[in-house]
Amino acid sequence: MSTDRPKIILDCDPGLDDAMAILVAVQHTDLLGITSVSGNAPLSATTRNALLVSQIADTDVEVHAGADRPLIIEPKHAAHVHGEGGLNGPTVPPLHRSPTSNDAVQFIVDTVRATDDVWLVPIGPLTNIALAFRQAPDIVAKVAGISLMGGSTGGGNVQPVAEFNIWADPHAAQIVFGSGAERIVMAGLNLTHQYTVDRDLAVRLAGIGTAVGTFAGEVIEACVEFSERMRGASTSPLHDPCAVLAVTHPQHFGSVKRHVDVSVSDITAGMTVVDERGYDDANANVEVLYEVDRDATIEVFVESVAAFS
Ligand code: RIB
Ligand code: CA
Repeated sequence: MSTDRPKIILDCDPGLDDAMAILVAVQHTDLLGITSVSGNAPLSATTRNALLVSQIADTDVEVHAGADRPLIIEPKHAAHVHGEGGLNGPTVPPLHRSPTSNDAVQFIVDTVRATDDVWLVPIGPLTNIALAFRQAPDIVAKVAGISLMGGSTGGGNVQPVAEFNIWADPHAAQIVFGSGAERIVMAGLNLTHQYTVDRDLAVRLAGIGTAVGTFAGEVIEACVEFSERMRGASTSPLHDPCAVLAVTHPQHFGSVKRHVDVSVSDITAGMTVVDERGYDDANANVEVLYEVDRDATIEVFVESVAAFS
């Protein structure tokens, strides 16, 4: 593996868009491991799906299963988006793989302690990351950064003011945002809704003519279908690859340092409270992404898919 690729652990809840993020990560990062978490679907499904994508991509990256429930609240899923099994839409082969371990938290702790400059890239609820930081506070200062898909500077998706990943485990999110990590990069809905895909892209991916291209085309088709059904829109945001691309291709993103905290109660539970007043930057703990070069990074995504034989 080339040494100039960022070293990352991808923590995910596949999930249609998570599946695409895995493909980008395999091609553009030194992917030290994939960890699964309960989120879009129960842990058994998200772990299975992470294994399925790694099998389709024919990568030997380890998959470690993590938390099967949030820190405090009851598990919440997004079957309406991703299906009961978390990967509704694409045809998938029978699974021939199993997780390397069922202790993702220990894998994260051990890997960060043993390896310099590791980015944690969570693209589901932040339960595993919060548990790792609680178990091993020393790793907070060791990580190169956290690049997460979650939150929003504006409205929510699963709730009026809450985005799913934060809403599904707000207490874990509060720990991560408040961890004091040197770099926390937030790809919230305000950013990911600029990263849109459509049916033309689905056809382009399917036209690559490989198993991964067919798989990715069917995933994008499923994302657009959901958008059409729910919002009457002909495009769909593709959330999770943004958190990976912000690490691998930072030149295509613009951010502002802001203070971000998380509401854990009542009607705003899961809301990321982003301080945009602009005069308290000393407290700014997060690099909030506001811009992305959508066309350039979509090309990176297509090239990533095409790079699989
Ligand atoms: O709100 C979008 C996020 O929730 C994405 O990570 C998607 O996979 C779901 O987990
Ligand atoms: Ca996800």
